[in-house]
Amino acid sequence: MNTTTSQQPGENAAPSGIHLMLQQAAERLSQTPITELFDREQDRITCFTTASDCLQLDFSKQRLDSATQALLCKLAAEKDLHGAFARLTSGDVCNTTESRAALHTLLRGTKAAELSDHYQGVATTLDRMKAVTNGIHSGDRRGFGGDKFTDVVNIGIGGSDLGPRFICRALKNPDDPIKAHFVANVDPQDLDETLATLNPQTTLFIVCSKTFTTEETLTNALRAREWLLAGGASQASIADHVLAVTTNIDGAETFGIARDACFPLWDWVGGRYSVWSAIGLSIAVNQGWEAFADFLAGGHSMDRHALESNGSDNLPLTMALLEYWNTTYLETETHLVLPYSQRLEYLADFLQQLTMESNGKSVTLEGTKIAAKTAPVLWGSAGTIGQHSYYQMLHQGNRSFTADIVLPLKNGDVDIDAHRKLAANALAQSRAFMLGRDQRTAADLARSRGQPEAMSPHYEMPGNHPHSTLLMSEVNPTSLGELVAAYEHKTFFLSQLFELNAFDQWGVELGKEIGRQIRGVLETNTGWESLDASTRFVASAWLAANTSGSNPEK
Ligand code: F6P
Repeated sequence: MNTTTSQQPGENAAPSGIHLMLQQAAERLSQTPITELFDREQDRITCFTTASDCLQLDFSKQRLDSATQALLCKLAAEKDLHGAFARLTSGDVCNTTESRAALHTLLRGTKAAELSDHYQGVATTLDRMKAVTNGIHSGDRRGFGGDKFTDVVNIGIGGSDLGPRFICRALKNPDDPIKAHFVANVDPQDLDETLATLNPQTTLFIVCSKTFTTEETLTNALRAREWLLAGGASQASIADHVLAVTTNIDGAETFGIARDACFPLWDWVGGRYSVWSAIGLSIAVNQGWEAFADFLAGGHSMDRHALESNGSDNLPLTMALLEYWNTTYLETETHLVLPYSQRLEYLADFLQQLTMESNGKSVTLEGTKIAAKTAPVLWGSAGTIGQHSYYQMLHQGNRSFTADIVLPLKNGDVDIDAHRKLAANALAQSRAFMLGRDQRTAADLARSRGQPEAMSPHYEMPGNHPHSTLLMSEVNPTSLGELVAAYEHKTFFLSQLFELNAFDQWGVELGKEIGRQIRGVLETNTGWESLDASTRFVASAWLAANTSGSNPEK
């Protein structure tokens, strides 16, 4: 327990007696098998499912009963989560440490009339994105050799990469006329391996950086420009091959990208919430404008759902209350996202930044230390692959977790037998998370195998792991828009329950600052005295392996 604060775990999050009642409920429900909850409440499926246009949430396998669900809805009302969401979407300054609004919802047209001043810039930018996209697809806009573009490379990192990367992969088809590629790492391998397969004459680069100061992105953009020049592009024709998306138009111009090749981003859009802006241009170029428009429409649909639905009818609010209940009261440690769809293989990667860069904090909006656990560690991968990797720990380890099993019901024109096996695995793992294998069943199994009773404990599994199943109609631009917006809103509601700022990220600054210092040491072989012995040891090893420079540690 952190002794520097007056708060008990969760005290800052649940006013009045609700905290105590939720604690008592947790003591009761943590001892109640999930199967018993089904026995007690025959209409459990009716009470513990909710839906939006494209999504259905089955949260009946959570360690929750109707009384506790009512308490959580009461907590949501006491915390005025609906009011907070309304204020967020109306442009209130919710990002107080940077004195900014967080209007990612406006990017998909939500409250456009109410926010017409801001929306004018959004609409103009969307028109420009549509024009560029259609010009590339029609062949009106071509490469320096006169051929149509065949490939688009997004150069960016974090929110300037993960969203478009996730969506382009999810919508990828073999006959996509323009292939999408993503380069994020400053490791030259990332860019080099990507460019090795591409033709400079038919490759378009989109340099995405909200600040246009990110070292990885600027390094990759410079090297991409050199590649174009080496491939025969003139300085003048670079403008046909390099677009930029940034709030820092001056920075982009200084870098050598013409102002009319820049698409604006605004400081009221957080990086991890920016896929709906021109940061998503690679999605439009790769999949066509209609697909991007449908993605925006899906996000808008979820915004309306979250603004107009109450309590357990509100899908993202329900997801947030469940995570708050599991993290704060059942004290689960990590949250898995398990998409049973290879198309959604980057979902966890995208959600890691969205959720952990938003809620991975430990002080409130007022700067008070939060003693209770805040954002859980989010991880996961496409099913069934994880079943042959870390599910052993899930079933027989002693780390508590929650999970979202994400299952698209339709899977396109695929082999139905294989698709059926995928679905069966998703349902089976969900049932196994709930049932486990008790002592008697384990003993029976050992006996049936002619094994000594001593084997029995090795067959036992605790089960009763709280989790939800999130059904998607299928993977298409609209359902992806709803899915991303649902997790954005869940993240926001959860930040309000933790009473923290979901929209700043001061924690990433220290590493960048020290990185600049150490890069200087490695470049100049001076300044060693400012480093600790361990850093000097490793830096010297790197220098010894990569230069003929003196090794100060020797
Ligand atoms: O990780 C820190 C961060 O600032 C993220 O919030 C952001 O998405 C990423 O770096 C890239 O920043 P930029 O878009 O400014 O290059």
